[in-house]
Amino acid sequence: MTLASIIRAERKLLLPTYDRQQVLFTRGRGVYLWDSTGKRYLDFVSGIGVNALGHAHPAVQKALKQQAGKLIHTSNLFYHEYQAELAKRLTKISGLDRAFFCNSGTEAWEGALKLARAYARANNNNGHKAKWRLLALENSFHGRTFGSLATTGQEKYRHPFAPLVPGVNFVAFNDVSDLKRQFDGSVCALCLETIQGEGGINAVSPEFLRTARELTQKSGALLILDEIQCGLGRTGKYFAYQHYGITPDIVTVAKPLAAGLPLGALLTTDRVASGMHPGMHGTTFGGGPLACTVAIEFLRVLDGLLIPVAELGWYFLTLLRSLQSKHSCVKEVRGIGLMLALDLNSADVAKAAVTQLLRKGILINRTHETVLRFLPPYIIEKRHVDEVIEALDSALSAHANNSHRKQRGSKTRRH
Ligand SMILES: Cc1ncc(COP(=O)(O)O)c(C=O)c1O
Repeated sequence: MTLASIIRAERKLLLPTYDRQQVLFTRGRGVYLWDSTGKRYLDFVSGIGVNALGHAHPAVQKALKQQAGKLIHTSNLFYHEYQAELAKRLTKISGLDRAFFCNSGTEAWEGALKLARAYARANNNNGHKAKWRLLALENSFHGRTFGSLATTGQEKYRHPFAPLVPGVNFVAFNDVSDLKRQFDGSVCALCLETIQGEGGINAVSPEFLRTARELTQKSGALLILDEIQCGLGRTGKYFAYQHYGITPDIVTVAKPLAAGLPLGALLTTDRVASGMHPGMHGTTFGGGPLACTVAIEFLRVLDGLLIPVAELGWYFLTLLRSLQSKHSCVKEVRGIGLMLALDLNSADVAKAAVTQLLRKGILINRTHETVLRFLPPYIIEKRHVDEVIEALDSALSAHANNSHRKQRGSKTRRH
C-alpha cells in the first residue's frame, strides 16, 4: 500500500482521533527511521519518549526473539518468571517496595488513583470525615481515561467528556500558597508530574515539591508522582524526583519501560500497597512475559546510559540557550537531561519549524502550541545534537528574514 492509499483507507476506516504527519515509516535502526520512499530521518521524538534505546537495538531484538519463541502471554491467573525480576530491579532503583504492572501510562495512573482512594478508605482514622479529595495541578496531563482526564488540568482534554470523576481540585502550577490554601484533611492524594511533559516541559519547583511532601506526610495523604514521560533515565537519573531528594508514595512509569512494547507500572511502598487485596484491581495483558523480559533488558542497558544522558543533556541545553540569545522568537529554554524544550513566541513559527525540520529529515514535536519538544533516544551523540541545532538555527533565521521582509513590505506600502 502507498502512503496515499493508506491515508484514504484510514480516513474511511479509523476513528478520526489523530492528525498524523504525512510520512509512512517502514523501518528504523539506531537514531534513524526510514520512510517508504527511502528517505532517512533523525528521530528526536522517539515515539514520544518511548524508543529510549532507539530502533532495532540488538539487546531488545535478542530478548524479543528469544521470549517470543518461549512464551508470550499467560494472564495474571498464573506465575511466570519475569514480573518478580522486573519488580526487583524497579524497586531497587526507585527506593520503593512493590510494583503493579499494566499496559500504558494512563492505566498506571488510574491504578495509582484507585490505590490512593482504597488506601485512604482502609486507613480512615479520622472517624466520620471522608478522605477522598484528589489535588492535581493546572496544565497537567495524565492520560485519556476517565480518572486520568479528571486529574488532567487542561480544559481542552476534559470538556468533551464531562462530567468526569468527582472529587478533584486543581492547584496553580508551582504556587505554594495556593497548595496550602487548598490542602486539608479531606485530601487523600496530591498528584503531579515531576516535570510536565505535554504541558510544555515545566519542572515542578523544589519548594513546591518539598511543601507537597511535607503536607502529605503530616496529614497521611499520598504524594503521587507521574513519571510516565520524565522517568526511567530521561533526565539523567533513574527518576526525576531523585533530583529533588524526596521519595513519593507512588510513582507511575510507562513510555520507555519496555523499549517500545506496551508496558506501564506503578511503584509504591509496603504501607500503601496494604490498601489493595486480590480481586480489587487487575488487568488481562499487563506485565506479560514478553514485555517484562524486554523491560528487564531495557533497565540493564539503562545503567550505562544515565551519565551520557546527563552529559548530552547539558550539551544540548547549552546550544539551545545559544539559539535563544540569537533568535528573538525564542522566549525560553526549559528542561533537563534529554527532555528539553524551546518555547517560541508564536504557534505558527513553531509549526513552521517542525515542518522545515521534517523536510530536512529531522523529527521533532510541537506541544502546547508554541513549544518545540525534544525527546531523543538516550543513544544519541553530539553530532546528532549539532545537526538538530543547525537545522533549528536555519528554521528560526528563515522566520526572522520572513518577518523582516513582511515589515519592510508593509512600510513601503504605507509610504
Ligand atoms: C506524563 C504523562 N502521563 C500519562 C500519559 C498517558 O500515557 P499513555 O498515552 O501511555 O496512556 C502520558 C502520555 O503522554 C504522559 O506524558
